[in-house]
Amino acid sequence: MPTLLFINACVRGKDSRTLALAEHLLERIREANSTDMAFHIEEIRLSTENLLPLNYERLQRREELLAAGQFHDTMFDYANAVAQADMLVIAAPYWDMSFPSSLKIFFEAASVDGITFTYAEDGTPVGLCAAADMYYVTTSGGYIGDCNFGFEYVNALCRLYGVQSTHFVSAQGLDLDGADVQAIMEEACNGEILNFS
Ligand SMILES: Cc1cc2nc3c(=O)[nH]c(=O)nc-3n(C[C@H](O)[C@H](O)[C@H](O)COP(=O)(O)O)c2cc1C
Repeated sequence: MPTLLFINACVRGKDSRTLALAEHLLERIREANSTDMAFHIEEIRLSTENLLPLNYERLQRREELLAAGQFHDTMFDYANAVAQADMLVIAAPYWDMSFPSSLKIFFEAASVDGITFTYAEDGTPVGLCAAADMYYVTTSGGYIGDCNFGFEYVNALCRLYGVQSTHFVSAQGLDLDGADVQAIMEEACNGEILNFS
């Protein structure tokens, strides 16, 4: 059964609007695939993971493991999970023009030469990931406009990893004075991109 890897970078638990939008997307994907090929959904909830940024010691350990070809060490669990997934869904609130720092640490751990990507002899990057699609789900207090740095960064990494299609799903302006939060969320949930029929 193909695997959908749900990378949950939402911070506010059940109060998270981003999580609500992502759950809606997951439900639509489930419905669309229920008749033929269903996904096994595997979630990595970053708020409960022990995420550590690379320091000098861990960087050296990582280089030693890679030099020894030990690609299945637990240090590479996130990289292997990303490499093997058939679809990626990433949920992250729009924070400080991008996303919570936990997601950066996750991608630091997932971006491993030899697991998620590599280089051809001429130096061209070659993606090693199986996923055909990546959905990036976010919600924001204001309007994201030209400052979509979170999605652009994740999009660039996914292209490096070899993911073929990337999609952006958002509900914006949720914290503006007088915002009709329910209406904005409903509009996002009914958006074209969530229509898989
Ligand atoms: C730490 C923090 C940083 C934020 N930074 C921004 C920002 O740069 N721009 C913006 O429009 N909203 C910003 N917001 C508002 C959130 O994007 C908005 O409330 C979003 O819906 C939160 O998602 P959630 O309900 O999934 O937690 C920020 C909120 C927090 C808590």
